Amino acid sequence: MNISNEGSVNAKRGWNVKGKITTLLFGVACYIQGKQLVALPSLMTTTVEYTQHVRPTFKEILEASNPQSDKLWRHHYERYYERWLASYRDIDNFRMVEIGAKEGASLGVWAKYFTNPSLILGLAYGASMDDLEKVKSDALKAGVLNAGSLLIMEGDQGSKEVLKKICEKGPYHIIVDDGSHYPPHMVLGFAELFRDCLVPGGLYVIEDLETNYWKKGKKIYGYPVSGGIGKTVSAKDSAVEKFKQLIDVLPRYQLNVEDFTILPGDELICSIEFGMNIMAFHKCTEQHLFDRPETAPFGSVLNITMYEEHIKEARSTNARDFFNSAY
Ligand SMILES: C[S@@+](CC[C@H](N)C(=O)[O-])C[C@H]1O[C@@H](n2cnc3c(N)ncnc32)[C@H](O)[C@@H]1O
Repeated sequence: MNISNEGSVNAKRGWNVKGKITTLLFGVACYIQGKQLVALPSLMTTTVEYTQHVRPTFKEILEASNPQSDKLWRHHYERYYERWLASYRDIDNFRMVEIGAKEGASLGVWAKYFTNPSLILGLAYGASMDDLEKVKSDALKAGVLNAGSLLIMEGDQGSKEVLKKICEKGPYHIIVDDGSHYPPHMVLGFAELFRDCLVPGGLYVIEDLETNYWKKGKKIYGYPVSGGIGKTVSAKDSAVEKFKQLIDVLPRYQLNVEDFTILPGDELICSIEFGMNIMAFHKCTEQHLFDRPETAPFGSVLNITMYEEHIKEARSTNARDFFNSAY
């Protein structure tokens, strides 16, 4: 069996697997003998050439990309994306944004993976118009067939104005934060984009969580981090610590504390997945919200004062200098 990647068109649509099948067929020979119809069994062989349409996996597309995104060779995020992306692959007019466009490597990968994207938006930071053109042409070289679906804009993800502009081009099925990796930016992006700019049932991914653990004095893209682990770090400085807090509001419906919230939109989270340096928020569909867990029927089971205190404390680490006290 010969698997061949026959140029970019086939790479977009899938790879052709060619082969031959030789089959033994039982034929039926019929002839008229006088007025009688006689059926005689006969053995025949036949060889059929076929071309089967097989789509490349996310990993195969990453492997074929040039330049190659570090999602593959450094992080091996394909192990998560393969599963996370599958149910979005064939959505008509699929829309996504990736914060952190770099050389456009991953933009080309998204564009190849999704069957019918109407928007793949990349945020490139500190880029000149020339840079943006280069990012775009590199992405085109990397395999974006429908150039109209690719949009690159310049901007700083630490700016609410920029996040607002991104949101205006939404809503998106998928939002990926692969930008500065500065922990407060991770939280700000989630707070600004998850609730209003992601469709119900959408996926919000944050890559490269390792910077949350880097010690004070280290920098990422020029941003001074102040990370740590457990009690050595405040949730003001660690997005991982901040997002861990959200686990405590997931049972809100069953516990009859629907209004307990830490970050905007956390009432719309259906699940949170942590992987190796990467995490994903799965946003509830409308059906999920309709079918939300019922309040426990056995009266008040909660030490409400303790719960309230906990939520209040969690909210106090919402890094208000970033959020302008809005949350
Ligand atoms: C890890 S790279 C992106 C890689 C790319 N997504 C890929 O997989 O091929 C991160 C990018 O985020 C950009 N970046 C740094 N600070 C940023 C900020 N404040 N806002 C937006 N992007 C930023 C960097 O310039 C860099 O190009």
